[in-house]
Amino acid sequence: MIPTPYYRIDLAAIAKNMAVIDQLCAASGAKALLALKCFATWPAFDAMRDHMAGTTSSSLYELRLGAEKFGKETHAYSVAWAEDEIDEAVGHADKIIFNSIGQLERFEDRASSIQRGLRLNPGISTSGFDLADPARQFSRLGEWDPAKIEAVLDRISGFMIHYNCENADFELFDRQLAEIEARFGDLMMRVEWVSLGGGIHFTGKGYPVDKLAARLKAFADRFGIQVYLEPGEAAITGTATLEVSVLDILDNGKRLAIVDSSVEAHMLDLLIYRLPAKMETSGSHSYQICGKSCLAGDIFGDFTFANELKVGDRLSIADAAGYTMVKKNWFNGVKMPAIVLRDPDGTERVMREFGYADYAASLG
Ligand SMILES: Cc1ncc(COP(=O)(O)O)c(C=O)c1O
Repeated sequence: MIPTPYYRIDLAAIAKNMAVIDQLCAASGAKALLALKCFATWPAFDAMRDHMAGTTSSSLYELRLGAEKFGKETHAYSVAWAEDEIDEAVGHADKIIFNSIGQLERFEDRASSIQRGLRLNPGISTSGFDLADPARQFSRLGEWDPAKIEAVLDRISGFMIHYNCENADFELFDRQLAEIEARFGDLMMRVEWVSLGGGIHFTGKGYPVDKLAARLKAFADRFGIQVYLEPGEAAITGTATLEVSVLDILDNGKRLAIVDSSVEAHMLDLLIYRLPAKMETSGSHSYQICGKSCLAGDIFGDFTFANELKVGDRLSIADAAGYTMVKKNWFNGVKMPAIVLRDPDGTERVMREFGYADYAASLG
């Protein structure tokens, strides 16, 4: 048995999501780029490459990883490129998307060998959480003013607009895209491509993929553009678990089980967004599942189990792919989970283990 903790990526589950991406892209003409900020575990890229047009990035290193490990079309985006990054970035990318007119003007000459784009901020989003709302007040994410954008239109060939956040509501997507068409339509008539970013939850159960495809096709036809999508979460939702073992059981007025992992170190987004972990269990024995870091609130959540838990029991925490492996860290020096691929026939292959040398190397 593979020792815990480890992240287990289920290739059959990835294949299911990829089939939806195939369906959506074939019916709409859109191209799907994997958003590496969400998922960059490159040993899994072989299962995705034939279904996605390439990758998009949020930094030089993500960009390079996309170019080297995924290949195909590579979009470069950064909130702000540094002077010493731009030439290398251009060397890896097919398209570079500037976040501001200032960055476009500063670097356009050095990016003249590839296509240039600009991030637009439509002033609306589906995010209910200020921390992650790209349209929040004073947002630095993209240009807002159509008049200013029009003045630089001859220097770019496309736009990127990211404004959805795990949006499972097609009608809302449809309404907001109509608002964007009204606000930026004149500009979109004059470019070749528009990326609508990520955050559309089209691989979720019951999502009307056909309606989305038709809407994207109508959008592309109206403006004569190539549409891109940048799915992160939608590409890998439901495809990975964090496998852990129980190390200790306590009863402090509530039964607690401490596992060989840490929310802070291995599933940080749960703490940031104040969400409980997901685990498919049920029964009459309730436990709070706790991490082994010294942080008092390092708690995965409260769950019930069919049997009493005991030391050595294995638990499987769901949804461990998106914004999880990309954010793992060495807090408390807790052993970092290995990365394991699960083949469709059930075989588990360890792709990477982390040890003390990795911990030490990350600090000096
Ligand atoms: C520009 C851009 N593209 C794509 C994504 C991926 O979004 P998601 O993982 O929700 O699909 C994000 C997420 O923040 C983003 O900022």
